[in-house]
Amino acid sequence: MDAQNVIDYPNNNTVFMVWNFKNNTAIKPVFQRVCALMNNLNNSAQVRTITSRASVVMGISSQAWKKLNLPEPLPKELVDFSPIVGKKHVAVATQGDLHFHIRADEKSYCIDMAAEISVILSQIAECVEEVHGFRYWDGRSILGFVDGTENPSGADRTFFGIISDEDEKYKGGSYLFVQKYIHDLVAWRALPVTEQEKVLGRSKANDIEMTDDVKPSNSHAALANVGDDLKIIRDNMPFGSMANNEMGTYFIAYASTFSTVTKMLTRMFKGEPEGNYDRILDFSKATTGTLFFCPSMNMLKEFAG
Ligand code: HEM
Repeated sequence: MDAQNVIDYPNNNTVFMVWNFKNNTAIKPVFQRVCALMNNLNNSAQVRTITSRASVVMGISSQAWKKLNLPEPLPKELVDFSPIVGKKHVAVATQGDLHFHIRADEKSYCIDMAAEISVILSQIAECVEEVHGFRYWDGRSILGFVDGTENPSGADRTFFGIISDEDEKYKGGSYLFVQKYIHDLVAWRALPVTEQEKVLGRSKANDIEMTDDVKPSNSHAALANVGDDLKIIRDNMPFGSMANNEMGTYFIAYASTFSTVTKMLTRMFKGEPEGNYDRILDFSKATTGTLFFCPSMNMLKEFAG
């Protein structure tokens, strides 16, 4: 099965879009055109933008899957994301029908692909979230720490990112989970670098993980790591606006199984043991949270009709 470009590496620019269907519109024919467009845009990118590594991936939520009468049974773990409520922080759940993850080294390609999608989709849906992510220095999050170092690489990306025989019907697909985080950068910058390093469990300048004997149990590295057998593909990007002091991280993960993401979120938000939550959350507020499914490219072609 030909997967969508879910295991591509992050690059310089990204546009993330979430669209919700309008009520009382004939969504199916327009959705079919968008499925065909995914194939067209990715093929075209291969020819026109080889050096820019341009691609677009579409995700479909469980609610949208049902509204569109797509095949049943649904992918095994495709449900509405339920909030994860810790004593202090909450991973909220928000509504989204379709998600687009548009990547390219040159922003022009992202903008053109987003425009092509929007022209068609706006007939039946409205864009409820549009985030323009950028590469910050040497791949750092806006908190100043390199983001993505412990991501799977090479063949592991396929293994952890794409469904294989465990769900025969949806082989080649991938679960996609997104959260838009806003950071309290005033509080973060007030924290000495040595303290920031304890929050992440890594050194800031050189991006080296702390050894277990010094790594705090409430650090991000300690709580987000659920073992070598359970990994996800993260393609986070910083974004933001100085004018309204809304600088953030668009967290985006692809996985062959959503339960791995849930496990990480539970440890981060509820804590391990309960109450020992991820200190990164004291500086980062999740304002969205939605689960989508990215069917294989072959399946998108079938949907296109
Ligand atoms: C506030 C938003 C977040 C920021 C700014 C952030 C940033 C980072 C940074 C800087 C690292 C260290 C380098 C690396 O990527 O390996 C990291 C690691 C990691 N993050 Fe996050 N992250 C965020 C949210 C999340 C969420 C919600 C999850 C899971 C649902 C997650 C899962 C992971 C995992 C699995 C690692 C690797 C841990 C390891 O094996 O050492 N992150 N993150």
